[in-house]
Amino acid sequence: MRVAVLTISDRAARGEREDLSGPRLQEMIRARGWEVAAVGLVSDEPDEIAGRLKAWADQDIADVVLTTGGTGFSPRDQTPEATLSILDRLAPGLAETMRAASLVKTPHAMLSRGVAGIRARTLIVNLPGSPRAAAENLDVILPVLPHAVALLRESPDAERGHRPPGGLRQA
Ligand code: MTE
Repeated sequence: MRVAVLTISDRAARGEREDLSGPRLQEMIRARGWEVAAVGLVSDEPDEIAGRLKAWADQDIADVVLTTGGTGFSPRDQTPEATLSILDRLAPGLAETMRAASLVKTPHAMLSRGVAGIRARTLIVNLPGSPRAAAENLDVILPVLPHAVALLRESPDAERGHRPPGGLRQA
């Protein structure tokens, strides 16, 4: 499984703040035994975000692209809109489930506007910006990513993954 991580932050892109969320997500990916296929850092400019996501999906550099940042309510938070502009198909269940599971931890989970969906054969998922929020959200969807990718890639083994052992872990 190849996973790319795109950090979206004006301040990190200007070098005013260290990007802690990207490295945290990379750690979690490697801990699963998956490959970190690419990492990137862009500002909150919608064209930059959409351009990078489009390029990564169209060049097929990863099975899954995780973004972190820009999902909130501040005027510069435009990650969901930029992502929607390049998606072919929506995957609302992932975003719905991350928000629902996160509500158990904080009512502020309602404030993440993140979306998930598919471009070509790549699944793209928006995660919030803080390292903790990004990690908590990724934790929720990690167990279903292999089956999602098997379906997306039409893997011959995909049918076998339809009923994983255990239900959704309590957050
Ligand atoms: N989800 C979890 N699991 N844990 C959190 O701490 N923080 C929330 C929310 N989702 C949070 C969370 C907060 S405070 C905000 S403002 C939104 O994500 C959006 O974050 P972003 O603007 O950094 O993308």
